[in-house]
Amino acid sequence: MKDDNFLKEHNAKALWHPMGAPGDSMANPPTIITKAEGSRIFDIDGHSVVDGVGGLWCANLGYSNDVVKQAISDQLAQLPYYSAFSGSTNPAAIEASVAVQEFFAEDGIGRVFFTSGGSDSVDTCLRLTRNYHRIKGQPQRTKFLSLKKGYHGTHFGGASVNGNNRFRIGYEPLLPGCFHITAPYPYRNPYDESDPARLAQKIAAELVDEIEFQGPDTIAAFIMEPILGAGGVLVPDPSFMKLMREICTRYGILMIADEVICGFGRTGDWSGSRHWGVKPDLMSVAKGITSAYFPVGAALVSEEVAEVFEQDKSGNAAIWHGYTYSAHPVGAAAVTACLSETLRLDTKTNAAARGTQLYHGLMGLKEKYDIIGDVRGGHGLMTAIEFVSDRATKTPLDADTVKTIQKRVYEAGAMVRPAPPNIMMSPPLIITEDEVQIMIDAFDTAIGSV
Ligand SMILES: Cc1ncc(COP(=O)(O)O)c(C=O)c1O
Repeated sequence: MKDDNFLKEHNAKALWHPMGAPGDSMANPPTIITKAEGSRIFDIDGHSVVDGVGGLWCANLGYSNDVVKQAISDQLAQLPYYSAFSGSTNPAAIEASVAVQEFFAEDGIGRVFFTSGGSDSVDTCLRLTRNYHRIKGQPQRTKFLSLKKGYHGTHFGGASVNGNNRFRIGYEPLLPGCFHITAPYPYRNPYDESDPARLAQKIAAELVDEIEFQGPDTIAAFIMEPILGAGGVLVPDPSFMKLMREICTRYGILMIADEVICGFGRTGDWSGSRHWGVKPDLMSVAKGITSAYFPVGAALVSEEVAEVFEQDKSGNAAIWHGYTYSAHPVGAAAVTACLSETLRLDTKTNAAARGTQLYHGLMGLKEKYDIIGDVRGGHGLMTAIEFVSDRATKTPLDADTVKTIQKRVYEAGAMVRPAPPNIMMSPPLIITEDEVQIMIDAFDTAIGSV
């Protein structure tokens, strides 16, 4: 590895970073993270902080899990790669598929299609729903419905169902036939409805209205995150996902739960769908499936949907879709080890307890600082603060001040993620009580200083 001077001199010069303008990265070079231990990260200047971001909602086991590291290393020695396109497979992939199937059996999941990440998984799910309706003799069911504020990755399919125009406008025209309904966001919504349960009812009525308008038998699927993550940790009312499920069933529309963030314990349950008592037809997963030690995702299919494919007589069941690294043996070994560690450590229980601690700690800061407009979380380790310059008018705080707060939180001991006017948190699920307190104290120091 080159020395620190080389790294600083070349930072963001040859590398274009995701989610930002290349010029901005050049003007404000990104923090160089050089090592990590447990839930802590270390930067090139030796500053060590609690990783309140969990990598990117993904390093669920923290950074020091030797079981997963060893499994990856052993598999690299045994078989670093072989294709899983039809005709060949590998032992690690077979074992991992059973581990994932068992992990989500309670959610009704029956089959696993491996991908290389979340966006792949979302696009795979979207495609499989069209496949499904073709097999069932309804090829006209091609449209997709989703929530505003939802985030479903950046492939063209996922971007088309995304509900934040930042990820859309620059890449239009997107996929035709994608329609969005109001987000379950009681703090701001067009109904001016701050009660989450009443808002859920209004959005349910809106969904029915949109389905009737589009024509029910033109719609393939509805996709939603059980708790909307990147859109600002929007926690719906407990009735919300069940209402969406019931409407999808009524109209023969498949429900895709995008569990890329929520899956594997982050909500305090093994899936976000289970957290709300819902069984979706498909799930997209990634991130926590390997705790980010290797890039893997999966599209998961319910037993009922699987049967339609497996008992096909129409000749439409072939899945002409897949990735070179689908069922990659090294990734698969990481999956099996990660799931076994996830269960052994019972990370969901810690996520629930530490998530409650973080939420209440930040709610305490809301009492103290008027620039905190809304604190969202309390369901596992997904938490956000929405900043305002005026509580009464809910005017969003300017982006520069939000970024200054994030910088000062970092200086005070925690990495957190700015998405103005929000700052979001999604630490490793193994985070300790002391480390959560460091995060809360770092916010106290930072907000007190602006
Ligand atoms: C809910 C959700 N879906 C899909 C994705 C896309 O995943 P990836 O970045 O691995 O492609 C993300 C990424 O954060 C996500 O949060």
